[in-house]
Amino acid sequence: MYPFTEGSFAVKNGWYVAAFTHELGRELLPRTILNEPVVLYRKEDGTAVAVGGRCPHRHFPLGASCLKNDTIVCGYHGIAFDADGQCVNIPSQTHTPKTYRIPTYPLVEHGIWAWIWMGDPEKADPALLPDLTEIGAEGEGIHLKPMYVEHVNGRYQLLNDNLLDLSHIAVLHGTSIGTMDNASVPEEYERRPGYVGSKRVMRNVSAPEVYRAVGVDVETIDRTSGMSFYLPGFHAGIDESTYPAGHPREGEYIAWSRIFHGITPETYHTAHYFFALAGTDPQAVAFMEDYLKPVVGEDKFATEEIEKMLRIIGENPNELLIKSDRNAVEGRRALQAMIDAERDLDAPVPQASLHDKDMASLD
Ligand code: FES
Ligand SMILES: [Fe+2]
Repeated sequence: MYPFTEGSFAVKNGWYVAAFTHELGRELLPRTILNEPVVLYRKEDGTAVAVGGRCPHRHFPLGASCLKNDTIVCGYHGIAFDADGQCVNIPSQTHTPKTYRIPTYPLVEHGIWAWIWMGDPEKADPALLPDLTEIGAEGEGIHLKPMYVEHVNGRYQLLNDNLLDLSHIAVLHGTSIGTMDNASVPEEYERRPGYVGSKRVMRNVSAPEVYRAVGVDVETIDRTSGMSFYLPGFHAGIDESTYPAGHPREGEYIAWSRIFHGITPETYHTAHYFFALAGTDPQAVAFMEDYLKPVVGEDKFATEEIEKMLRIIGENPNELLIKSDRNAVEGRRALQAMIDAERDLDAPVPQASLHDKDMASLD
């Protein structure tokens, strides 16, 4: 599917943000991820777990069921599953077959995020998670705040494309965080396996509107704006500025922030967007929580409008690419390569089914 080759949806063997850790508790949290219904919760000992969200009996949503101790009891006919996915009770019979199970998924709490692995669990290596110090989510004087969990009516790659091409800040966010320099200053690129990075170093450029909103009286700034994409679904943005050459406070920081975007495919045409911000001034971080909500709303708007357009024009539109697409094209290529590699390796998975001939084994 667009913008990938026909039949390509998303990378499965990779860590995606399933939730902010503060969302997880003793209430069942249903969330569809990579087209699979999932339920997230904490066991009584506090461990966060992720299991399949569909009862294998008649497909009732387990997220709409209830949690008893560490066991989910299906809200339809009461079949119960423990945190390892094993059926532990069927009210209408005495025997609970070992084969009666729901899937479980590796889930790791790392920073403020709970990361899920939807692919081969054998490959779920926590060492593949982004380093919290490297991305600026952890360190002395850093205040990190989880902000919004957005549901987006657009395919996940439209959000990745948006974050991989920050020239949109100049226009889509031109009344808040952007100026035309966000488009006109050339980008620098960095590549390594599993990573696509870009940034603009802007010298003596106009300060965007947001500076006036926070009461910083400055006309021109030196600004660095960039994005680090940790494939397949996490972007760590940089935005920092200092007083420019000739200013009495030349070189001193005016603002420092790191902006985190967890982009997780929900269905073929929808996505989850987890937005968080880190800064050095807790008051500024608190202010930005309200200020940035409509800015993220602009990205959501653009994504949803493009998704609607794709429904009209089909999955294989011609695109007239320009120079600033270079980074997004690299990101798409890297994801496509991961999807292709998985497709070659994966044998087809047989569907579990329960037909008449299997009924004998149940009791
Ligand atoms: S659908 Fe879950 S017990 Fe019947
Ligand atoms: Fe944006």
